[in-house]
Amino acid sequence: MKRIGMLTSGGDCQALNAAMRGVVKSLWYTLGGDQVEIYGFNNGYRGLIYHDYRKFEFRDFSGILTRGGTILGTSRTPFKTIREPDENGLDKVAAMKQTYYNLNLDCLVVLGGNGTHKTAHLLSQEGLNIITLPKTIDNDLYGTDMTFGFQSAVDIAVDCIDCIHTTASSHGRVFIVEVMGHKVGWLTLNAGIAGGADIILIPEIPYDTDKIVDAINLRVKRGSTFTILAVAEGAMSKEKAKMSKKELKEYMEKTKYPSVSYELADELQKRTGQEIRVTVPGHTQRGGTPCAYDRVFASRLGAEAGALIMKGEYGFMVGYKNREIVKVPLDDVAGKLKYVSPDATIIKEAKLLGISFGDE
Ligand code: F6P
Repeated sequence: MKRIGMLTSGGDCQALNAAMRGVVKSLWYTLGGDQVEIYGFNNGYRGLIYHDYRKFEFRDFSGILTRGGTILGTSRTPFKTIREPDENGLDKVAAMKQTYYNLNLDCLVVLGGNGTHKTAHLLSQEGLNIITLPKTIDNDLYGTDMTFGFQSAVDIAVDCIDCIHTTASSHGRVFIVEVMGHKVGWLTLNAGIAGGADIILIPEIPYDTDKIVDAINLRVKRGSTFTILAVAEGAMSKEKAKMSKKELKEYMEKTKYPSVSYELADELQKRTGQEIRVTVPGHTQRGGTPCAYDRVFASRLGAEAGALIMKGEYGFMVGYKNREIVKVPLDDVAGKLKYVSPDATIIKEAKLLGISFGDE
């Protein structure tokens, strides 16, 4: 008999349900229905802390391959607060362990991104059997080449840029599409190339506004009537990239702009004389049904998680390296971000295609 707990934590994304279905199916079909019990914790680590869970049946995982969101619900429980007692003095780590032991679980399967992995690692160090699955539209999780949710989000951001393309060409305007991705540029880079953006700005390559102005003016000179910029929500000017954390925080508190795109739009309008518009697809990038790639990918990860549980191998994230599904020790994942390297060949190739990154 295997007693498995599952939770989804942090921002949601597409294919969370597909991944959980994969875990459950692989266990159920290999061990038999009477040999598996599944407990789902509601709303991320909160469910584990406050003993808020449901016992699931096999049929609960039917028909969810294509469903976005998460059937368990999710929440953000910042790692920096995990060791602090809650408002009633409850020790959260002790409470999570208590829930795990009360249910007599063999393993807790945790689906999440960076913050989630820090807590999962902590629980593993505290002696719980943990397996994690890499979810995030940002694709910034260390130890895996790919996270599920990413490809679906790329498709949505590309749809947005495609729509902007037609209106930008009719009006002859400059359009900025602000893409999610937190502190990394994977989503913007891929959506920008796929959507045919002329300028791509990502956090890993701080931009020089003069170079962006030059790129827009060059397009005008060559007869282009419009320009599209794909700008990561975490993109930074060279000046800002030099600021200390404290200086940046003070700057962000003072600025009147809701995000980098609006600030850049104002600057570019003044300096190019062109009409500029900003579009922010925002959370649509995390919504809707998972694309086919993510359905396959998340199902494979889930199935391999089931296989690890059956072998009793714990303390791993099921990841993807060099086109193979692999198990990665949680020690190697937690607390690190996977950035786009400015020297990556994809950047070089994008530049060969004439895309400006605002740096040269
Ligand atoms: O990590 C996924 C993500 O969508 C980031 O791209 C974005 O910065 C953040 O979550 C938004 O968080 P929230 O849903 O809490 O606004």
